[in-house]
Formats: sequence, structure tokens, C-alpha cells
Amino acid sequence: MSAKHANLLAWLPLATALLLSGCGGGSGGVTVVDTTPPAPPGSNWQWQLPSYFPTPKVPEDNPMSVEKVDLGRFLFYDRRLSGNGTMACASCHQQALAFTDGRAQAIGSTGEMHPRSAQHLANIAYSPTLTWANKSVTSLEQQFPVPVFGSNPVEMGINDANKLEVLQRIKDLPLYQAKFAAAFPGNADAISWPHITKAVASFQRSLISANSRYDQALQGKTTLSEQEQRGQRLFFGEKAECFHCHGSFNFNDQVVHANTRVLEIPFHNTGLYNIGGTGAFPAPNRGLFELSGEASDMGRFRAPSLRNVAKTAPYMHDGSIPSLEAVLDFYAAGGRNIVSGPHAGDGRQHPNKSALVAQINLSEQDKADIVAFLRTLTDEEFLTSPRHADPFPK
Ligand code: HEC
Ligand code: HEC
Repeated sequence: MSAKHANLLAWLPLATALLLSGCGGGSGGVTVVDTTPPAPPGSNWQWQLPSYFPTPKVPEDNPMSVEKVDLGRFLFYDRRLSGNGTMACASCHQQALAFTDGRAQAIGSTGEMHPRSAQHLANIAYSPTLTWANKSVTSLEQQFPVPVFGSNPVEMGINDANKLEVLQRIKDLPLYQAKFAAAFPGNADAISWPHITKAVASFQRSLISANSRYDQALQGKTTLSEQEQRGQRLFFGEKAECFHCHGSFNFNDQVVHANTRVLEIPFHNTGLYNIGGTGAFPAPNRGLFELSGEASDMGRFRAPSLRNVAKTAPYMHDGSIPSLEAVLDFYAAGGRNIVSGPHAGDGRQHPNKSALVAQINLSEQDKADIVAFLRTLTDEEFLTSPRHADPFPK
């Protein structure tokens, strides 16, 4: 490649550069990268994606690189990154559970209970908004300070009083001195909060789940059982309506990627609550309403991606539905009628409830079939891959 060509390449967007170097589609093609003169930052990163997965959108000031993802993995699993040294991101986002924690509500490093359930992180690179109901958190870099420095509730428990000490813990380790230098070459002061943020975001973007049995069936490598196929037809059909909100390649309806032209960020009320018939949801879990204060936003949440959903119980923003069978009972009823206790009220009658959530005439067999289909979305490779696993020796 001539020097003129290499210069030109530096100006091309990452996706195009990757295509030019022959590694855009993940079909196992051999990559030939001319490294003299130096390649543009991030050009050593290759997405491994099936054809129906678009290339993720990556911020221009934080291109992917093998070194950043590697560093981010160490940081994600490092308990030094919490105020009292007891908790890592991975404490609440565990690989074997698709990066959830199995609890209805998460518990922070100082024992504070989070009002909401920890979310899975599979294919998080494609989410245009982050967390259960917040239009304003739109990048992983922007979301990072919430668990790290947040005090409402305390998660990692880092604050102004211990911030320098925590950073010093990282700076003191030769392991990190080498890894930050590799990930952020040419920076005298490479170990900094902005670089920690970028590396952890890059690691999270690398968490691609695209090898479930469902994917293998799409790619002709296996065949789903009769029951799973019946469930698939129901899921994508107009009787059960699931696909309207969970129908993308990522089984949700908020997706951004490198070539997104029109970005939609819907939120929905599925009729989980309707306290005393007033339309209220329990605070501080009232969905978009928490930030907007608009009555029409009461109870509106982002539809989660259903990839690996068999591993992410309990379900919904507050973990209030224990199993997939119970989720199907909930949808079949067109919402939830709570008959006693402080949250009593008929969610099925919620004035904001999406018209797509209505009583469905699903037989026991239909529900079991849909659950069987949802179980095909489990990606064992993702849940066990050493690339996403704890790098620290036990
Ligand atoms: C105490 C448990 C806990 C810890 C520790 C924790 N998280 Fe979370 N995480 C949660 C909960 C709970 C949510 C849902 C938050 C909400 O909706 O308000 C969440 C949501 C997220 C999301 C949004 C996912 C989505 O689907 O939109 C990302 C990204 C994330 N966490 C990354 C991290 C990173 C990175 C760290 C470490 C720096 C971390 N988390 C530490 C509990 C935790
Ligand atoms: C109107 C849009 C909409 C439709 C239609 C819909 N869902 Fe959902 N789904 C959501 C939203 C929003 C949530 C999160 C609600 C919350 O936490 O309050 C959700 C949550 C879920 C969850 C829990 C996931 C988790 O990680 O907690 C499952 C499972 C699920 N839906 C399956 C289905 C199935 C199966 C169907 C079809 C019978 C369906 N959904 C139809 C919007 C929808």
C-alpha cells in the first residue's frame, strides 16, 4: 500500500476501513493489514458478526482496539475500582448470567439496595439509550460515572474523598502501567479516569452475543425443534405481538448502528402497575416519568433485548416477575392485576398501556412453545468465552 493510500485510509470511517482490509463480515476471510506506515487507531479491531448484525456505532473519539478491550476487561473485573475494594462491575454483571446478577434488585458496595434490576450487557454496543428508562444517557462513556461515582444509590462507591486513592491503586500496578501504555500510546499520563472510562466502554462494546441456537438455525447450522419453531411463529406473529417491541436482530426495538439513518427510541407501558386505579407506578420506578414528570410517561420503560433471556431472571425493571412462564402469563392477561398489598391495582386497565399489550388467547401449549423459543436465544459461547471472562487468577 502506498503512503498516499494509507493517508486516505486514515480519513475513512472505521467500518469502511475494515471492509477495505477484508474483514468486515466475519466470514473467516484472511486479513491482510499493511502496518507500515502505521494503521489508523482501532484498525486492529475486527468485529465477528453474522451478516444480519450491523456494524456497531462507535464514538469517533473512542475507536475500538484490541488493547483497549483487553485493558477494559481487567478494569471491568477489578474490585480495586470500588471505594471499599469489595465490588467490580462484574459483581452485578456476571458473565454466566449474560452479565446480570440473578437478583430482583441489585445491591451496591456499601449494601445499599438499587431500586432496579441489573441489566444484561449482551450486544450493549447497539443500545441508543442506556438503563431502563432514561432518554438522556446515550453512550457507554456517559453511563460509566453512574455506577462508579453515583450516590443515589451507591454502587461502586467512589467519591471525591476516595477518588485519588482509587486511581492510585490502579497506577501502582505494573500490570496496568503496561496495559494503559499499550491502549493509549503516546500519553505521558495514560492512567486517568477518562481513559478508564474509554477502556471499559470498549470492553462492553466487545460483548457481542450472536451464536445462540437461534442464530445457528438462521445460519443453517442446526434446526430448531417443532415446539421451538411453533414458538418462533407465535413470537413473530400478530397473535402474540411480541415482535413489535422485541423484533430486531437483538430482540428489542431500540437499535443504533454505524449506518443508522432514522433513530427511534420507543418506551412502553406494559401494564405492570396501576396503584389504586390512579395510574401510579411505585416510586422511584415510574419509568420515563421519573425525569420528565409528564403523566403520559408514567410506567414507560425500554423493552429489553431478549437475547440470553433464559439466564436473566428475575424479569422486568424491578425483578417483579420470577420466571419466563410467569412473563407469558402476564402478557396473555394483557397486564398485571395486583389484588392486595401496597401496590394493589389493575395494571391491565392502565390508561398509558401500549395498545400492543392486550389480552391474548394463548393456550398453555402456546405459552410453553414461546418459552421454548425464548430458550433458544441462550448463547453458551457468549456465557463461557474466555474473551469475556475474568482475567484475574482465582
Ligand atoms: C451494584 C450493582 C451494579 C454495579 C456494581 C454495576 N452495575 Fe451496571 N447496572 C446495575 C443496575 C441496577 C442497572 C440498571 C440501572 C437503571 O436502570 O437505573 C445497571 C445498568 C447498567 C448498564 C445499562 C445497560 C442497558 O441495558 O442499558 C450498563 C452499560 C452498566 N450497568 C455498566 C456497568 C459498568 C461498566 C459497571 C462498573 C463500572 C457497572 N455497571 C457496575 C447494577 C450495577
Ligand atoms: C408494547 C411493547 C411490548 C410488547 C408487545 C411485548 N413486550 Fe416484552 N417488554 C416490553 C417492555 C417495555 C419490557 C420491560 C418492562 C418493564 O420492565 O417494566 C418488556 C419485558 C419483557 C421481558 C423481560 C425481560 C427482562 O430482561 O426483564 C420478557 C421476557 C418479554 N418482555 C417477553 C415478551 C414476549 C414473549 C412478548 C409477546 C408475548 C412481549 N414481550 C411483548 C415491551 C413489550
